Amino acid sequence: MNKFSKRLAVAVVSCTAAAMALSAPSIADDQPKDIKDRTAPPDPVSELAKQQGYTFDGIRYRNKDGDPQYVVTKQYMVDWGTWNGFRRYHDACHVCHGPNALGSSFAPALKDSLKTMDYNTFLATVAGGKKENKGGTMFVMPSFGEDKNIMCYIDDIYTYIKARSTDAMPPGRPANREDISDGARKAADECTG
Ligand code: HEC
Repeated sequence: MNKFSKRLAVAVVSCTAAAMALSAPSIADDQPKDIKDRTAPPDPVSELAKQQGYTFDGIRYRNKDGDPQYVVTKQYMVDWGTWNGFRRYHDACHVCHGPNALGSSFAPALKDSLKTMDYNTFLATVAGGKKENKGGTMFVMPSFGEDKNIMCYIDDIYTYIKARSTDAMPPGRPANREDISDGARKAADECTG
């Protein structure tokens, strides 16, 4: 037996083994005929982001100015950041600023503030706080600059409130969300330490 025929013999044996495996009711029968059946439909959030000209930086979407950007589909499916911002807002800000960023007798409706307030002013206000004496009553916005549970997610909170400042996002819980990306998970882990 020369080298070639030896190799051929091995091939025949392994083919027979494979054929035997196949003759039993096999998992192969459960597989869809067409591989296309198994590809997920395009994700509507990233599709919409692409249409709007937003870029994904590995953590979140950004607009052409480089600011954090919400993405909300017509079915109220949102990007991960906006979803997380919805949760964080209702954890840390709503006690004063009201559910759904609608305001209270005590603190302004951030839904209206962010119609005009830019990203950097928002960031500086949350980090540094703010207070004002209105007719003898002090209205105090605490400073959250040292609070990792806020500052690590402040871009998410911003995109949520920014979405609320437009018609894109009605009050209430978003209908659906994108999965968290590896980048977003890593960034949050590193930030909260
Ligand atoms: C303890 C109550 C309280 C909490 C909690 C609070 N705020 Fe405030 N915030 C205020 C008050 C009161 C003002 C208005 C201060 C003023 O008039 O100078 C304010 C003002 C602001 C402003 C400026 C609005 C404007 O129109 O000028 C921003 C932005 C803001 N808060 C964001 C946040 C965010 C984001 C959170 C949650 C992370 C938060 N705040 C949590 C009380 C609070």
